[in-house]
Amino acid sequence: MTEKKASRDIYVFSNYLNEVYRLHRLSDSQEVFSVKFRTYVKRMIVKLKGASFEDLEKYRNANCASNCLPGHSIRTALLAIGIAKELGLKETAIVEIGVGALLHDIGKLFIPRGILDKPCKLSESEFDVIRAHSEIGFQVLKEQNWLSGRSVDIVHNHHERLDGSGYPNQLAGDQIHRYERIVGVADVFDAMTSKRNYRKALSYEMAFEEIEKESPQLLDAQIIFVLGKMIEKHSHSQRKLEERLEMRRDICHYPCVE
Ligand SMILES: [Fe+2]
Repeated sequence: MTEKKASRDIYVFSNYLNEVYRLHRLSDSQEVFSVKFRTYVKRMIVKLKGASFEDLEKYRNANCASNCLPGHSIRTALLAIGIAKELGLKETAIVEIGVGALLHDIGKLFIPRGILDKPCKLSESEFDVIRAHSEIGFQVLKEQNWLSGRSVDIVHNHHERLDGSGYPNQLAGDQIHRYERIVGVADVFDAMTSKRNYRKALSYEMAFEEIEKESPQLLDAQIIFVLGKMIEKHSHSQRKLEERLEMRRDICHYPCVE
C-alpha cells in the first residue's frame, strides 16, 4: 500500500458516497446503491482484510481534505477488521463488521456541512443534529437486503455506550452486540488520532491511554485490550526499524545524512 493508492481509494469511495446522496435526494427511493457500489464494498473489505496496522497512517496522510468522511470510514473499517481478526472471529463475522464499519457514518451525508465542518466546538443543539446520523444511517440501510442485519445494526448502534449514555436508543451492557462494540472502539480511536478543525490529532499511545481511562464504563475492556496489543506490536516494529537503521549507521563507511 502506498499513499497514492490510499488517496485513490478515498477518492473512489467519496464518489460513491456522493452518488448515494444524490440518488437519495432525487428519488427518495431505496435504489441508492448501484451494483458498482456493492461490488466496490466487497472489494474494499477484501483489501482491508489484507491491510496492516501501518496502512492506517497511509489512509490518514492521503489527501481527503475536501471530505473527511470516506477516509475516516475506511480507517475505522481497517481497525475494526484488525480487532476482529485479533479476536479470532470467523470470516463471516469479519466481513459483517468490516461492512458495518465502512458504512457506519453514512447518515452524516444527510447532516448539513455547516455543522459537520464547523471549525469550533458545537452547541448542544448542533450536537443533537449530528447525533441523528446513526438513526438516519439505519433508516437508509434497513431495507437493503444485500446487507446483513448485523452490519446495519452496527450503523445504528456504534455510538451506544455500556453505561447507557450513548445514542440513539441508550442501549446498555449486553444490549450492545459485540460487533457494535468493536466498531465503537475503532471509531473512537480513529477520531482521536485524526486532526479535527478544533483540535490536534493525538498520538496512538495518548489516544489509547484516554480510551483506557473510559473503560469499562463506556467501552468494552476486552476490545480495548486487543487494540492495545495492536498498538504495542506497531510501536515494537517501529522500534525495531529504528534499531535496524541505527545498526546500518554503525556499519556505514561514508558520512550519514542527519
Ligand atoms: Fe458516527
